[in-house]
Order: sequence, then structure tokens, then C-alpha cells
Amino acid sequence: MPVLAEVRERLRRERPLDGVSVSACLHVTAETANLMRALVAGGAQVGLCAANPLSTQDDVAVALAQRHGATVLAARGESAAQYAQHVQTLVASAPQVTIDDGADLVSAIHESAPSHAAEMLGGTEETTAGLLRVRALAEQGTLACPVLAVNESRTERAFNDRFGTGQSTIDGILRATNLLLAGRTVVVLGYGWTGRGVALRARGAGASVIVCEVDPLRALEARMEGYEVMGALAAAERGDVFVTVTGGRDVLRGEHFERMKDGAVLANAGHFDVEIKLADLRALAVGGRREALPLVEEHTLANGRRLNLLAQGRVVNLAAGEGHPASVMDMSFAGQALCVEHLVANAGRLRPGVLPVPEEIDDEVARLKLESLGVRIDELNEDQRVYRSAWEHGA
Ligand code: ADE
Repeated sequence: MPVLAEVRERLRRERPLDGVSVSACLHVTAETANLMRALVAGGAQVGLCAANPLSTQDDVAVALAQRHGATVLAARGESAAQYAQHVQTLVASAPQVTIDDGADLVSAIHESAPSHAAEMLGGTEETTAGLLRVRALAEQGTLACPVLAVNESRTERAFNDRFGTGQSTIDGILRATNLLLAGRTVVVLGYGWTGRGVALRARGAGASVIVCEVDPLRALEARMEGYEVMGALAAAERGDVFVTVTGGRDVLRGEHFERMKDGAVLANAGHFDVEIKLADLRALAVGGRREALPLVEEHTLANGRRLNLLAQGRVVNLAAGEGHPASVMDMSFAGQALCVEHLVANAGRLRPGVLPVPEEIDDEVARLKLESLGVRIDELNEDQRVYRSAWEHGA
């Protein structure tokens, strides 16, 4: 993670986070550990809990706590009660800055320590689902601190969502099933940046891709990219593999399951495990359920068809794989570290609300990444700069 390493070395020299307490609710992976190390190097006191009970890499959690001075509260497979307890422990530590992947931490602070929320320097949010929650808080007039919408930064959308989730979702599905995608039909539900990435990689692996999308513009874009576009009920009859990436809920439910083919595979790559309606799937499994493979739960319906749910409907790239490759998280987490620095440097100057990531942060991350790849690009000369800013030129 060369970009993050570069940022970490500068933070170590300048110590802009000296004495600041930062708590993060993120997937506990090797990449996240490097972000925590960068914050510690900058002088922060760091606490970390998991953003999902199934995504923690236990060896990483132990090493981070023992060797790098972070407080880590996470264990793979922890119960819902343990998960909530870990979040609450971080709430009680009264962090000045939060980093979220799904908004569990910042929401919990607003719920159980609202007066502390108003004293925070701010937070960051990494996912679409988390931003929906933070925006709901803002609309209700309850959001008491600035939250940077990392998920909507240019580097995040273009690289993390499209290339990161695109590849790692397919990787998680293949690790869990060892399925050949060539010749199969993959249904992608949701055509945001993540859906675009999943569709692209599925097509690259030889699958026929169907896209389901409720936004007309995105649906049209998918059609013009050459995908089949249709409603989920029609797609239910056609798909071999279904991937939900909407950030919403109940995207695949009883009426869809009843139409699916024998052997269909159901995977969710959205942050929360609500996109595949598990209660419906369980209720329809009158023929029984069994663990076909470690992360594959087979459900037999009354019509004899078997539907295979991956990783309990939890975010498949992290629950069945290792999440995004380090080279993508390098950019995301370098951006996160710079966002934390920005919140601290601008203490008292940012208004409560959902705020965009400053353009300079995106530019700096992209510049450092290009440098690490040995890629040089051109700059505009003076005439070109003037041309771009003048209105007088025309046909
Ligand atoms: N989200 C997606 N991939 C991730 C990774 N490798 N580490 C932390 N969060 C992630």
C-alpha cells in the first residue's frame, strides 16, 4: 500500500493527530490495519471494532493490538450481542473522530451519547448504505457533527466500488463455490458503481449478464453497455447466479425465490445482510436446509429446487473472500487518513452535515498512486489554461 505508506510517513513526521482519539468501525483486515498504523503514526489514540461479524481476520486483529498500539474489539463469528457490545465500548470511549463502514458507530453515538456527538470533530463514511443512514439523521435534524462522504469521493467510486467490489465480489463467489462463470447467466441487482464493476467482471469471465435497476437513467446506461435489462421477477427465472448490490432491502424475496432455477446461487455484496430476504428463503425451504459447502447453505423448496445462499447473505467479498485487494484499499484508506487529518485541522470550522471530500484529497491520492505506479502525465501549458477559463472563443 505505497500511497498509504507515503501518507503514514508524513503523518509520523508532522504528528497532526497528536492526542486525538479516533475510533473506527471497519472490516478488520490487513488493509484496515495499515490505516490504523498510519493514524497511530500521526499521534492518534486508535480504537477499532468490526463493521461485520463475519469479516474479521483474527490474526490481523491480534497483531494490530499487540504490535501497533491500537485497541481492537473484534473476533470473526462474534455474536450480534458481542458485536453491539464492541460498538458500545467505542461509544463509551468518547472518540473525537469516527471512521465508519455502514454508520454503526456514528449512529450509536447519536443514539446513546447525543451530547458527545455535538462535541466531535467529525466522522467519515465509506459505504452507500452508511451514507443513507447518516443522511436520514441529517434530514431528521439530528446529525450533530460533520461527516465526510468518502463513499462519494471520485477515487472511491471509480476505484474502490468499480474495480475493488467488482473483482472481490466475483472472487468471493468463486472461493465459496468454485463455479465456472463462463456460459452462465449472472443477474446483477443494482447498477451503481459497484453493480457496474460486478457486471463488468462477470462479463469478462464469460457470463451473460442481466441487470436489474430501478433508476431509469442507470438502467438505460446498462442497456447501452450491452447488458440485458429487465425487472427482477423476469430475471429470477433466467439467472444462475444472483448478486445484490443496491444498498436497499428485500431486493430478492419470496416471489423471486419461487421462480428461480434449481441450483441458483444467491450472493449479496451490499453492506447489510438485508438485500436477500432471509426470512422468506427460510420459510420457503420446506424441503430442508443443509450446509452444502462451508459458506454455501442449500435451501430446498416445495418444488424440489435447491437455492444456494452464500455466506448467510452477508457481504460476500469479505465474508467469503478477503475483501478488496490491497492496491485498491491503498487509495481508499490513504483518502480516509487524509480525511481524518482534514477534520482535525479544521476543528470548529466545519458545519454539521454530510460534506463532500475536499477535491485536494482526491487529487493527492490519485497523484501519489500514479507516482507509485511510475506513471507520468502531462500538465496544461499556460495557453491551454487560459483557453479553458475564457468565454470569448467560439465557432
Ligand atoms: N472493504 C472492502 N474490502 C476491504 C478490505 N480489504 N479491507 C477493509 N475494508 C474493505
